[in-house]
Amino acid sequence: MSYILAIDQGTTSSRAILFDDKMARVGTRQQEFTQHFPQAGWVEHDPEEIWETTLSVCREVMTAQGVGPEQIAGIGITNQRETTVVWDRSTGKPIHNAIVWQDRRTAQTCERLRQAGCEDDITAQTGLLLDPYFSGTKVKWILDTVPGARDRAMAGELLFGTIDCFLIWRLTEGQRHVTDATNAARTLLFDIHTGQWSAEICDLLDVPMAMLPEVQDCAADFGLTTLLGGAIPILGVAGDQQAATIGQACFAPGMMKSTYGTGCFALLNTGSEPVTSKNRMLTTVAYQLGGQRTYALEGSIFIAGAAVQWLRDGLGIIETAAQSGELAQHADPAQSVVLVPAFTGLGAPYWKPDCRGAIFGMTRNTGPAELCKATLESIAYQTRDLWQAMQSDWGADADMILRVDGGMSASDWAMQGLADLLGAPVDRPVMQETTALGAAWLAGMQAGVYPDQDGFSQTWALDQRFSPEMPSEDRDAAYARWQRAVQAAMSF
Ligand code: G3P
Repeated sequence: MSYILAIDQGTTSSRAILFDDKMARVGTRQQEFTQHFPQAGWVEHDPEEIWETTLSVCREVMTAQGVGPEQIAGIGITNQRETTVVWDRSTGKPIHNAIVWQDRRTAQTCERLRQAGCEDDITAQTGLLLDPYFSGTKVKWILDTVPGARDRAMAGELLFGTIDCFLIWRLTEGQRHVTDATNAARTLLFDIHTGQWSAEICDLLDVPMAMLPEVQDCAADFGLTTLLGGAIPILGVAGDQQAATIGQACFAPGMMKSTYGTGCFALLNTGSEPVTSKNRMLTTVAYQLGGQRTYALEGSIFIAGAAVQWLRDGLGIIETAAQSGELAQHADPAQSVVLVPAFTGLGAPYWKPDCRGAIFGMTRNTGPAELCKATLESIAYQTRDLWQAMQSDWGADADMILRVDGGMSASDWAMQGLADLLGAPVDRPVMQETTALGAAWLAGMQAGVYPDQDGFSQTWALDQRFSPEMPSEDRDAAYARWQRAVQAAMSF
């Protein structure tokens, strides 16, 4: 029996998931790690903790399942994207904590570049916008801030990588400095049309090209690790949202998925041609296989599940995330409370890093149930923002269906509410561990253990379809309320 080991290094935890040769999940181990908030709007991770938790969950899941390295045909890595690490080539030691995708410290740098008229050119090459979300200005910040760092980077002594790249460097004990096209596409330094690093943008941000990794296909030879008891090849890599797109088998143009984790990320496959959004969506690489890039439009929302965490840990009005759906069902239907969860600014399609959250429509009777309902609805409203923008970019008459996954997709109530607000079907698959599955499939396909793309698509199975039931005038009135609330929050 051959196995595939998927590593899912996410924003709040590191996970290792073992899949058997039929792509069935046979074991999972997970460890949370520390979130560092050194200043308001700053978010950091300790790369050593990321590394230690990752290595430890891999070892644990293999031991728990009694699977040895010789039985593992390949490793697939998927990861929180954009999070930036710079480390010393000779010692492997990071020179600064990882700056996390949520971190807003480079908002002013982005604004200065925008004022200088750089955004159009950057967008034309990278498909991205000038927002602190992406890695480029984070690398610049590290090189500007850590004494001597830029000179050392220019001398080839320092390396940059997203989390996949850092993990591969560590797993291969410094043998390989590589990433894949999906992770490269999130750095603000990569030309998604040519598939090469952009010398022009690196120059603009003062990031020496000597510190950038080699970019490969998502299924390729990423090196061998011997740290799990024997030699195992790393054969698949994709950023987590792209891995979920693959795991959802969104391989045809017009197919779209939305993943509900800390944030919510919707990707629409646009095929072999990149589509430029007129509605502030991102253009990104969905996957690169056999040297061919497939592109996607992406809408990125920074706060989704994190708002439910706020109900639990901040307000203390629920004990478990699942309780939010149970309480929301008992909310007073006469109240129209709207929450704009802009806790770390607003992402797509608004891109307002300085906007902050707001609650509208509260009465003396507003309580935990109404706040839970408003929170879950805010996630659906934000999805509708993305849905609408993508429909308009892609062609509004397309019959689009949304495939969902991630924590919140388990709630029937929330998914029915989502279908109602979109006015479109929402499909939940049987296999909701799509991010890990996507990474596993890349590695398993490369190893020759798993089926090709068509064969894999056929294994996608529907758990439940949620069809819209809300009258369209109610839907429109609710969405108009949300739009008013967002405008008010942005002008506060
Ligand atoms: O772009 C950020 C995204 O990759 C983070 O995903 O699931 O770790 O919150 P997640």
